[in-house]
Amino acid sequence: MLAKDCKKKIILTGDRPTGKLHLGHYVGSLQRRVALQNSGEYDEIYILIADDQALTDNWDNPQKIRDNMIEVALDYLSVGIDPARCHICVQSNIPALHALTFYYMNLVTTQRLSRNPTVKAEMAMRGFSNSESNDNQAGLPAGFFTYPVSQAADITAFKATTVPVGEDQEPMIEQTREIVRKFNSTYKNDILVEPEILLPELQSQRRLPGTDGKAKMSKSLGNCIYLSDDEKTVKQKVMGMYTDPLHVNVSDPGHVEGNMVFTYLDAFCRTEHFERFLPEYENLDALKDHYRAGGLGDVKCKKFLIKVLEDMLAPIRAERAKWAADLPAVYRILKEGTEAAVQTTNRTLAEVTAAMKVNYFADETIIDEWDRWIRQ
Ligand code: TRP
Repeated sequence: MLAKDCKKKIILTGDRPTGKLHLGHYVGSLQRRVALQNSGEYDEIYILIADDQALTDNWDNPQKIRDNMIEVALDYLSVGIDPARCHICVQSNIPALHALTFYYMNLVTTQRLSRNPTVKAEMAMRGFSNSESNDNQAGLPAGFFTYPVSQAADITAFKATTVPVGEDQEPMIEQTREIVRKFNSTYKNDILVEPEILLPELQSQRRLPGTDGKAKMSKSLGNCIYLSDDEKTVKQKVMGMYTDPLHVNVSDPGHVEGNMVFTYLDAFCRTEHFERFLPEYENLDALKDHYRAGGLGDVKCKKFLIKVLEDMLAPIRAERAKWAADLPAVYRILKEGTEAAVQTTNRTLAEVTAAMKVNYFADETIIDEWDRWIRQ
């Protein structure tokens, strides 16, 4: 067998703890993580709570990140991330990640970083400007600008082969792959591993719009359904969803494209939900056909969507309540996950510092080397 074939399969993925996780996170990535965890195909799985990355645009509000650390941890555990099979770890407490970030900074140019489309979009949203002359806008924090380098450190420190994330993370994985190639060629080694991205399987899972129909479910737009929302809140949010503004009377023909109720049904409903909750329709296509033809009201569709979502959210909520009642256990999970991550990443850092010849104190052979050098 080739050495390459025996390579371990390692997953690294993560989230910024800036808020509770929502349905967009669930369809876009959490669900997949649980499936990958349960597949038994991976040798190691690390899930990183990226608090340092969150600080790059929340440096003035560390309490927000500290509070959301526990929310995100509870969200993970409640959807079925199993701490016996995944290490849940905290970025700020894994020192090797900082060291690697600093070394990787030498391997990227600011021009290359400026081309990252995800960072560009985030800069626009936050009013960060990179121009020297624009004084209406906030300057661009160097930490924020360079977070893709820190993300490359996250991924490579674990030697991740697979990074399951949403499509907005594609530029980060590409940047990581470039850094890996540059590192390995510059320091003549094959220490770092080029990761593969694993995108959600279905288009409907890739970018869930907000309940208001805006492009993305996002906390700042106030259009999210959170995994931790109670039943009443979920009902209210679904009842207030953006549908088809031209579908005024039940008898009017309706549009399913751009109609959030159908967009969410595309993402969440399965044929068995019809048998259980809406047996007069065989499947989603039949429901859509009726809506398009006219004669099907929004309320009926919304009530069905509520049942579909509740079917998924009720067990998640129950699981969350169990963990929330035992925070010391959650604390231990994070602590142990982080300790495992520290060990793994320190091993990578040791290889990197050796390749970069800055591992002076790894052993004393350097004394002989210096001796030869000064006598030559
Ligand atoms: N950038 C990711 C996000 O905004 C979070 C993240 C940080 C991450 N480090 C990572 C994702 C490493 C995957 C791998 O959601």
